[in-house]
Amino acid sequence: WTYEWRTNYRNSPTSSEYKIIAADRDTFSCRGRRNYQFTQWSDDLSLTVLNKPAAKLTASDTIIPAGGSVTLTCSVSGSDGWKFDLLRRQSVDHKDQFIRTNEPDGVFIISDEGVYSCRGGRGDPVFYTETSIKVIINEIGQLVPVLSVSPSWLNPGASVTLSCEGLEHQPAGWRFFWYKAVPDPSVSYYRFELLPGTSGTEQNFTINGPTHTAGFVCRAGRGEPVNYTDYSEPKFIWSADPRPAASLSVNPDRVQHFRSESVSLSCEGNSAEWRVKRFTETGKLSNFSNWGTINGSTCNITSYWFNSGVYWCESGSGEFSNAVNITVHDDDSAPLLLSPVHPVTEGDPVTLSCRDKKQQLLSNVFFYHNDELLDFGSRGELNISAVSKSDEGFYKCQHSGKDSPRSWMSVRGEEEENV
Ligand SMILES: *[C@@H]1O[C@H](CO)[C@@H](O)[C@H](O)[C@H]1NC(C)=O
Ligand SMILES: *[C@@H]1O[C@H](CO)[C@@H](O)[C@H](O)[C@H]1NC(C)=O
Ligand SMILES: *[C@@H]1O[C@H](CO)[C@@H](O)[C@H](O)[C@H]1NC(C)=O
Ligand SMILES: *[C@@H]1O[C@H](CO)[C@@H](O)[C@H](O)[C@H]1NC(C)=O
Ligand SMILES: *[C@@H]1O[C@H](CO)[C@@H](O)[C@H](O)[C@H]1NC(C)=O
Repeated sequence: WTYEWRTNYRNSPTSSEYKIIAADRDTFSCRGRRNYQFTQWSDDLSLTVLNKPAAKLTASDTIIPAGGSVTLTCSVSGSDGWKFDLLRRQSVDHKDQFIRTNEPDGVFIISDEGVYSCRGGRGDPVFYTETSIKVIINEIGQLVPVLSVSPSWLNPGASVTLSCEGLEHQPAGWRFFWYKAVPDPSVSYYRFELLPGTSGTEQNFTINGPTHTAGFVCRAGRGEPVNYTDYSEPKFIWSADPRPAASLSVNPDRVQHFRSESVSLSCEGNSAEWRVKRFTETGKLSNFSNWGTINGSTCNITSYWFNSGVYWCESGSGEFSNAVNITVHDDDSAPLLLSPVHPVTEGDPVTLSCRDKKQQLLSNVFFYHNDELLDFGSRGELNISAVSKSDEGFYKCQHSGKDSPRSWMSVRGEEEENV
């Protein structure tokens, strides 16, 4: 037998197998021929081609540090058997050029900046996907690691792990260096002091049982003499417990405040010179300078500059105070939860209340602990006669279908008090 093919658009070959590049919707049928006899045409077979597949290019990082590299990965989702080509445009005046072709795993390690794109191809004759979206890779001079601390609020006696991250995609061989960030009025920032015995450690560093608020930075280095990265941004571990040497209080004394209210923060302790710092929910560290007015060690915050975050004081002699959470509430029509700023001690009585903008106690209120409704009638106050560790957690109140923000209440064991 020889064969004959009938398709929408193509001339037909004569073999029993007919290879096509799937590109459009197509209908096929075939018939056999022997001597001068023909069979009937077969039933039509319709092929529907899904969207033309596109290649996707992802980069481990869009910045190449001096002497470093980044990994680009080209992929086509939902199907396999592809080989990948990488294109690079050196600069705007240049054309896209193929710099690698037919790579089966689609992983490219590159160390030159430029505008990269890729495509996949498979089959014979080769069918190519659409070219991917372009990815811009820039070269920079200095690497900046990112420090993370966990947990960021101290539990008395527990250890804290610092991790110096962001170099995972760089060639190996880094050693890590850890510094205490000491408030320094003469530079109105921090002075970095190498922690004893931490010159060139592993990527993670554990501090056992720290007891005060403290700031840290890290950097990495390699080679001999050592080539250092830049210092990371400072990160903090916060202690909630006020100390005689340095303490911060908030007036009115509660976590939540309406933006329209006036709030003042006071630093107290063995210093004549204080600075108030905050770390906002968006991870931004700032100094109290122009967010309000200051008189001695008390500052009044102007609503425009008031933001939710963690606040603390730093003394002229380098001491850190306890830290507090402050939540700024923008919705004047929703209730406000009044909860303690400082940790409460096991066995002590605690009252949480739910108030409106004029500080009137609301009635018909529901309180939630870790998102579970508490069954305490619906008075505007929640009285706990002797608080226990299980009362720790997030609280919020609800009035007329509107929720207050939620706030954390810390509970300290009696034995932890003097740690
Ligand atoms: C380092 O710490 C980070 C964050 O705590 C953790 O995810 C990672 O597994 C740790 N790495 C090592 C090598 O211990
Ligand atoms: C330090 O970095 C520079 C610039 O990247 C490089 O030329 C030099 O080889 C590096 N030195 C070492 C010891 O790695
Ligand atoms: C501040 O809030 C966090 C949770 O967002 C909590 O872990 C921490 O203990 C709180 N600090 C104080 C002093 O309540
Ligand atoms: C600053 O504080 C002092 C002492 O508490 C007080 O006498 C003075 O009136 C305050 N000044 C302002 C502008 O509030
Ligand atoms: C801060 O606000 C309080 C109360 O409104 C006021 O008595 C005090 O004088 C203010 N202090 C400054 C420095 O503006």
